[in-house]
Amino acid sequence: MRRPLIVGNWKMNGTCENAKQLLADLLSGLGNDGTREVGVCIPYVLIPAAAEQLADTAIALGAQNVGDHEAGAFTGEVSASMLKEFGCRLAIVGHSERRALYHESNEMVAARYSQSIAHGIQPILCVGETLEQRDDDKTFDVVGEQLSAVLNTSGEESLFSAVIAYEPVWAIGTGVTASVDQAQEVHAFIRNRVAELDKEAAEQVRILYGGSVKPDNAAGLFAMPDIDGGLIGGASLDAGAFLAICGAAQAGE
Ligand code: PGA
Repeated sequence: MRRPLIVGNWKMNGTCENAKQLLADLLSGLGNDGTREVGVCIPYVLIPAAAEQLADTAIALGAQNVGDHEAGAFTGEVSASMLKEFGCRLAIVGHSERRALYHESNEMVAARYSQSIAHGIQPILCVGETLEQRDDDKTFDVVGEQLSAVLNTSGEESLFSAVIAYEPVWAIGTGVTASVDQAQEVHAFIRNRVAELDKEAAEQVRILYGGSVKPDNAAGLFAMPDIDGGLIGGASLDAGAFLAICGAAQAGE
């Protein structure tokens, strides 16, 4: 049985003050009954304070990216071992905003993923097609390639320590959500692709859906057999909305 996982992706939002308040609201609103896991991926500079606030709580701390090398002359990057030292348990890799705006290739994403695995941080590998690719019937090709690039480098056994997030680019921040059937179809494709390599890994790996998840559409998505939770952008900045989405994951199981 896969435990649902809900992760907030704050993107480039937050101040010391409102991050502290948001986390305090989440901590007081979340029960700790173990039916689902919750994490937040926050800007690097907010991580040290959040690590103290979230120590020994039910909320896992995460980053929104991770360096593709161990250490060295890579200005602007933050390594997996640094994140580990500050208590991070999760790191998003290959988010479509990184791929599109900062030109991160499949190879670079694979290197970031592998650094994350090597240092005991659970990567959340984002995959997903653009609207143009969907319209051209390329969804499975694109998602399959994004997945293969990582598995060719780190091996399918790495999926025992990783999470996959299907995020159709056309649904991110647009208010347009994939229908539950559209999302389930791609989630099933991903799980089948993994099953061809390793049945147990396919059974066990959690595949999150991301893209305009809101309190009113979350329960429907989470009820689908291959959707194991969500990666939440905009709605994760509002404690009430994020808590409602967490609650939907609980109810869906
Ligand atoms: P959104 O973002 O929920 O604002 O669409 C999701 C994401 O980018 O992870």
